[in-house]
Amino acid sequence: MDNNIISVIGSGTMGNGIAHVFAMSSDIQQVFLVDLDDKILEKAQSIIKKNLDRQVKKEIISDSDSNNFYNKIIFTTDINNASSSDLVIEAVKEDIVIKKNIFNKLSMITSNNTILATNTSSISIGEIATATKNPENVIGMHFMNPVPVMKLVEIIKGDKTNNSIVKRALDYVSSIGKIAVECNDSPGFVSNRILMPMINEAAYTYMEGVATADAIDQIMKLGMGHPMGPLKLADLIGIDVCVYIMDVLFEGFKIDKYKVCPLLKEMVDQGKLGIKSGEGFYKY
Ligand code: NAI
Repeated sequence: MDNNIISVIGSGTMGNGIAHVFAMSSDIQQVFLVDLDDKILEKAQSIIKKNLDRQVKKEIISDSDSNNFYNKIIFTTDINNASSSDLVIEAVKEDIVIKKNIFNKLSMITSNNTILATNTSSISIGEIATATKNPENVIGMHFMNPVPVMKLVEIIKGDKTNNSIVKRALDYVSSIGKIAVECNDSPGFVSNRILMPMINEAAYTYMEGVATADAIDQIMKLGMGHPMGPLKLADLIGIDVCVYIMDVLFEGFKIDKYKVCPLLKEMVDQGKLGIKSGEGFYKY
């Protein structure tokens, strides 16, 4: 690690978790967490505080650790603060146009040595990299939700990603106590290519009245040993995110098995996005 400063762009579900886990690393001095306005950043501040408090209560960290970690995070609306970072992780909405704009800006303001990582669930790393002047620095670092709890980071190598960038990204992942697993750039990578069709099938099963949401989730939990049923997981991920990823899989492979379940689309139209909107397959 060349310096101890990292930046996270986007302070939503994933971004605040990513900032949180990096702030906990003794290797990291400062984390810039960037979002569009102060109101959104205030929400991220309170979520990170709440999650750190939870770790204190569980005696995972001490009270003073919690303060130290929190104080390492600089909440800002100015993306230029990312300029001195050794690693920047983008975690904004799953939208290729927004992501490309951000990567274009990042490649202008950061050094030639900065790792430009995206937390995208499904968008091609090679495609995002085309927006930069240094595509060899662009890599996928796909964290899992909830970030402070989940061990895996899926590392996706784009067609131009330099091996030294991969090596440094792997080092960062181990420095925060997580486990990196590598794969190549392909629609949905490994995780979502396998997970999303399962969630989609669960949505069809529910839509066709084969069983209640609770029954479907119980069957998958108790019968298959999954820690959470697919419909509850869809609510956690966000129904809109699930629809987006299914569309990426369908666009990428052009095979009918990746067609999104109409019920998921309907839910998005009705604003039933899962936990974040207060209702999905369940009410929150
Ligand atoms: P989210 O909607 O909770 O948060 C996105 C944040 O980005 C928002 O706070 C928004 O204000 C901010 N943002 C939008 N445009 C911005 C810009 N130009 N500059 C700075 N901030 C901007 O989204 P979430 O769920 O955190 O997802 C982020 C990324 O992580 C997506 O690419 C998603 O596919 C991926 N992901 C999501 C997972 C999940 O379970 N939600 C799991 C793994 C990856």
